[in-house]
Amino acid sequence: MDWQTLKSNARRKFSGACRLCPVCDGVACAGEVPGMGGIGTGTSFRNNVNALASYRFNLRTVHQQNQPNLACKILGMDLSMPVIAAAIAGTALNMNNALKEEEYAKAVVGGCKQAGVIAMTGDGPKPQIWETGLEAVKNAGGCGIPIIKPREVDQVVEMAKQAAEAGATAFGIDIDAAALVNMSNAGQPVGPKSQEELAYIKQNTTIPFIVKGIMTPDDAQACQSAGVDAIVVSNHGGRALDYTPGTAEVLPYIVEAVNGKMAILVDGGVRTGGDVLKMLALGAHGVLIGRPMAVAAVGGEGEGVSLYLEKIRAELTAAMILTGSGDLSAISGEILW
Ligand SMILES: Cc1cc2nc3c(=O)[nH]c(=O)nc-3n(C[C@H](O)[C@H](O)[C@H](O)COP(=O)(O)O)c2cc1C
Repeated sequence: MDWQTLKSNARRKFSGACRLCPVCDGVACAGEVPGMGGIGTGTSFRNNVNALASYRFNLRTVHQQNQPNLACKILGMDLSMPVIAAAIAGTALNMNNALKEEEYAKAVVGGCKQAGVIAMTGDGPKPQIWETGLEAVKNAGGCGIPIIKPREVDQVVEMAKQAAEAGATAFGIDIDAAALVNMSNAGQPVGPKSQEELAYIKQNTTIPFIVKGIMTPDDAQACQSAGVDAIVVSNHGGRALDYTPGTAEVLPYIVEAVNGKMAILVDGGVRTGGDVLKMLALGAHGVLIGRPMAVAAVGGEGEGVSLYLEKIRAELTAAMILTGSGDLSAISGEILW
């Protein structure tokens, strides 16, 4: 499958839910939640894209770094590059049913496994959303990270147990879904979690615990004190709260506060291998990509997802060569202008 075919398939299947804009920046889809957009004015989504765009590279070519090594280990997982598919769920509500929930989970989990990376799966008010994600992870031999809504702690513990039984390498909660009305409307309360509650979840689960949706140094430090294994610096792709800064703006402050004591992942507005490199240069250990994975999955299922990941790999490799980054450990803020 080629890129143009993938895009025209996706455009047809989304039937307007995603317009496949030349730059996926949250302008055309502002306010489309449910849908593929950002909440309210769409400012948080746009801030993610604009924050990344505001960083520039130092082009450095007087060196001998010609074959950068992208392989890495994150939370004990061996990945062919530090890229993870972000959890995306609710294909009926958000994507005009462009794919069935189980087709979507299978495509993203399978396409990532094929490319040597890993996908997160989601959760939602309908139990089927969680179950199909879990099933896809199980069928992929545990290659996946189920993300649970910030439900009551004992329910999180129970669902994390299911994730471990499915062989998942880690699990997480998207804590920034703390005010998600479609969960509470469906009688499944979600809410913020205290440091003590996070510690309780950590102490009662067996696989690495990720908290996704952290945007301040204080919250990051509380996660670290609770024993959380990794955080995702994220504003849920600008879908939770209008007028938050871009994740690439807050990331350096969070990295500084945590000071190497916990794995830091990030997402929001990452579209290219160059964007991945910027996030790594700002201190992230791994980078999640959301909406473009959805376009790839809808347009080409598992094959589309791995095609997109190979594009990211090629762009990241080129950007590393052109910034003089021989391997991942050599990437630092110095490659940014
Ligand atoms: C349609 C849609 C559904 C999403 N569903 C979930 C979900 O179930 N769980 C979750 O943790 N994040 C969810 N997210 C947020 C993504 O995991 C991720 O944080 C965000 O998409 C990253 O921004 P990007 O799309 O600009 O890359 C969803 C995002 C979108 C666009």
